Amino acid sequence: MNKADSRRLLEIFISAGYIPADDKNTADVIVYNTCSVRGHAEDKAMSHLGRLKFLKERSPGTVICAAGCMAQRMKEEIRERLPHIDLVVGPSSIFRVPEMVRENLSGVYPDTPDTVKEFSEYIDDINLEKEEYTGYVPIMKGCGNFCSYCIVPYVRGREHYRSKEEVLKECRALASRGQREIMLLGQAVNAHPQFKDILKGVSSLKGVERVRFVTSYPGKMDREIVDIVSGTPVLCDYFHIPVQSGSESVLKRMNRKYTVEDFLDIAFYIREKVPDAAITTDFIVGFPGETRDDFKRTLEMVEKVRFDQSFTFKYSPRPLTSASKMDDDVNEDEKKRRLAELNRVCSRAGLERNRRLIGRKVRVFASEARSGRTGSYKIVHWEGKGAQPGEPVTVKVNQALPHSLKGLRED
Ligand code: 5AD
Ligand code: SF4
Repeated sequence: MNKADSRRLLEIFISAGYIPADDKNTADVIVYNTCSVRGHAEDKAMSHLGRLKFLKERSPGTVICAAGCMAQRMKEEIRERLPHIDLVVGPSSIFRVPEMVRENLSGVYPDTPDTVKEFSEYIDDINLEKEEYTGYVPIMKGCGNFCSYCIVPYVRGREHYRSKEEVLKECRALASRGQREIMLLGQAVNAHPQFKDILKGVSSLKGVERVRFVTSYPGKMDREIVDIVSGTPVLCDYFHIPVQSGSESVLKRMNRKYTVEDFLDIAFYIREKVPDAAITTDFIVGFPGETRDDFKRTLEMVEKVRFDQSFTFKYSPRPLTSASKMDDDVNEDEKKRRLAELNRVCSRAGLERNRRLIGRKVRVFASEARSGRTGSYKIVHWEGKGAQPGEPVTVKVNQALPHSLKGLRED
């Protein structure tokens, strides 16, 4: 989501006549787009922002902006501890930054209902950079699921869905300027009341060759979504469905509204219906009260589903969330041990899934001269003729690694 927002912001700056700087040392405007989902991301953002002090001293004319969830949440602290930051801007107000810079504004601008502008308003006259063939399109903002560990509903607000018409209008504009791959974005895209119609609508747009969507909430995954993906070649065989834990009681305390059985049911349906589809997920280890036994259930989940890729995190308490009031009783060493063990099991599963592709031909969209992604979002490096960004190539896979594939270009 942040990558998509940053990308849009860059485009708005470019259309206002700015040029991307090679380096922050030579930039006139520096915007940090921050995330507050995990404590670690916030600490990193704070230290990066802190290090800009010398830059401001050297060239006081440089405008420095902290934007996004963390900036909004920690606005007071930023004002106090980092006076060299000129602008502090909330996640929905980020597209106003170019305007603010032009008007020489400084200070704190948290989100309010009328700061929220639709991107479609900005999309005309934007010059597409050659290598960007993927268009990122948010179909919703915020989230109202209130998983007990998650700060999103507090910093990004409750869920707000864009209408199908608006989404299609934006996708059409992106396709007509050459973006042949569309990534639909949201915290729980499949909770959108018009999700299935959006999938069908976007994948039948002229010029759109690949469509994917992230993130799917497991409690709202149903067989019909899988059927639509299976029956629509343009829809990529890629499902990112964060399960978080394989323990029933942990899921309950996380306030995730599905059971282990629900999850397995849909995962096995995907495996049956679209055998080559990648299923990827997120896990949290060391959630309050997670026993060794609970953790074992998580390992078992990986053994059963064989996720193509897993993103794993140590639990960190986030302010405002209901889990932050629970006892964070799994100590740091144990969290580290569980994370390492889970990573080992997940890598093995990923490698095994990738090995299935050895000897087969895959279609890859190049993002660099000799690498790109399959429809299932796997990274492929190839030997042989190079390609232009966005060019589709056929690669015969001859080697599988846990997080990527290697092969020879065939066409
Ligand atoms: N601690 C650790 N991981 C978290 N995530 C969200 N909140 C927390 C937290 N408090 C992880 C979840 C989510 C991913 C984006 O970040 O796994 O799916
Ligand atoms: Fe957070 Fe849960 Fe919403 Fe995901 S579904 S953004 S984890 S509250």
